[in-house]
Amino acid sequence: MSRAADAAGQGHIEELGRDRKEARPVGPAPEPGGRQSSVSLADVQAHEGVQTFIALADRHLGQIGYTEHGFRHAGLVSKISYNVLHRLGFEERDKELAAISGYLHDMGNFVSRSFHSQTGATITYDLLRELGMSYKEVGLILAAIGNHEEEFGHPVNAIGAALIVADKSDVHRSRVRAKDPTLFDIHDRVNYAVERSFLRVDAPHRTLTLELTIDTELADVMDYFEIFLSRMVMCRRAAEYLECRFKIDINGERVLSTES
Ligand SMILES: [Fe+2]
Ligand SMILES: [Fe+2]
Repeated sequence: MSRAADAAGQGHIEELGRDRKEARPVGPAPEPGGRQSSVSLADVQAHEGVQTFIALADRHLGQIGYTEHGFRHAGLVSKISYNVLHRLGFEERDKELAAISGYLHDMGNFVSRSFHSQTGATITYDLLRELGMSYKEVGLILAAIGNHEEEFGHPVNAIGAALIVADKSDVHRSRVRAKDPTLFDIHDRVNYAVERSFLRVDAPHRTLTLELTIDTELADVMDYFEIFLSRMVMCRRAAEYLECRFKIDINGERVLSTES
């Protein structure tokens, strides 16, 4: 999401709310046919194009002042996406597709930050087909990647829902590139203040809880909500898709609990 859109805050939430109403499904679409392929996360990670484009994406975002979006973020989001579906009891192939989506989701940033979820999905098509992935699986991954940002995104499949909560959970001081705290913007300040972040999946109680430890000397809880509110709305929807409730705990206190 762009920083301008981030800063838009509440107005953006209303926009999301309207989109959501209009986008309400009228019924479950039929499951597409198609074969399962054996393309793994390791195969995807070994692809020269993937390695090159993720490195370029991180470099380009660094040049325009964004937090880390490189191999650390890709690997972590991949792992969390996998774990969300694993803990909720999904099939092994769904988990692998979520892991692949998580690894590739921000690759489009090497073209441009704007519309990076859409450009990323477009680029990913050729790469995955080249590796021999089936059309059905490519379709699921492209939908997950194309819907991971809050401006236009909706959880349209379980892989994409897992990717959304995984991506928005990665807030941590290690993502901040600026060395001088006096140069921090609000994104840097909030990320830098987060000493620990963990997405807890409680399958029996159907909850996804983002647990954060924040140094309130560096940023207060309101700073966090100022820039993350629209992301949290998206997390709530993603959790609902997975038949869970989304919660946030900051420094051991429950600060958000949504009802499904
Ligand atoms: Fe993104
Ligand atoms: Fe991301």
